[in-house]
Amino acid sequence: MDGNGRWAQRRGLPRSAGHRAGVRPVRATVEACGELGIRVLTLYAFSTENWKRPRPEVDLLMSLCVEVLDREVAELHTKGVRVRGIGRRDGLPAAVRAALKRAEERTAGNQGLQLVLALNYGGRQEVVDAARRLAREVQAGRLRPEDIDEDRLAASMDTAGLPEPDLLIRCGGEMRLSNFLLWESAYSELLVTPVHWPDFGRADLLAAVAEFQRRQRRFGGLGSTPGGALGGAGDPRT
Ligand code: IPE
Ligand code: MG
Repeated sequence: MDGNGRWAQRRGLPRSAGHRAGVRPVRATVEACGELGIRVLTLYAFSTENWKRPRPEVDLLMSLCVEVLDREVAELHTKGVRVRGIGRRDGLPAAVRAALKRAEERTAGNQGLQLVLALNYGGRQEVVDAARRLAREVQAGRLRPEDIDEDRLAASMDTAGLPEPDLLIRCGGEMRLSNFLLWESAYSELLVTPVHWPDFGRADLLAAVAEFQRRQRRFGGLGSTPGGALGGAGDPRT
């Protein structure tokens, strides 16, 4: 989710207004993903680098997280959405940790859309944390270094058990990953839209999915094997 600040600036408003305006598209996107039958939606809400922002902006983003989680959880639960957080939780304010925990616990049994919230998340930090977990296993004598493979590493990440993202949408026009799901997005289809997040709507999501459906996915192969050319069915991991 990017472009909140520019959205506000263009209107002569403070950046905080952009962040507040960024709440509505969260709702709209979650709803649309649910209706489309998308299994997992990951929202990059706050990166490990976002702490560099001025304190009042960080505080606002954190309190918006709590506000939105607490206000929306009942409806998410009704819709069968399951909430899960990724990122370094111990670096988050206690109120955010608590709100996330409440949402996760309340929706734990749901079978619908999985809504993954990346909070204090960084792709590199996630790999570091996974390496530490594995090192501890080795140190404890429960794991041999030669048994560490891609599956084992994937299972040690915050995203353990989640499918790799098929489509990565970046709004706000920047052509970079900004430390988002670095390991998991190895074969994700990338889509950059100039639309600022507060303006991102249902139509933008549908257009992105339509664009995704036109992509040829070969996963490094030639894509000529049956079912191997287009996304979804041909992907052995899905
Ligand atoms: C939102 O957009 C990103 C969050 C950290 C929530 P920005 O705040 O990065 O907006 P721009 O890039 O300054 O326009
Ligand atoms: Mg930005």
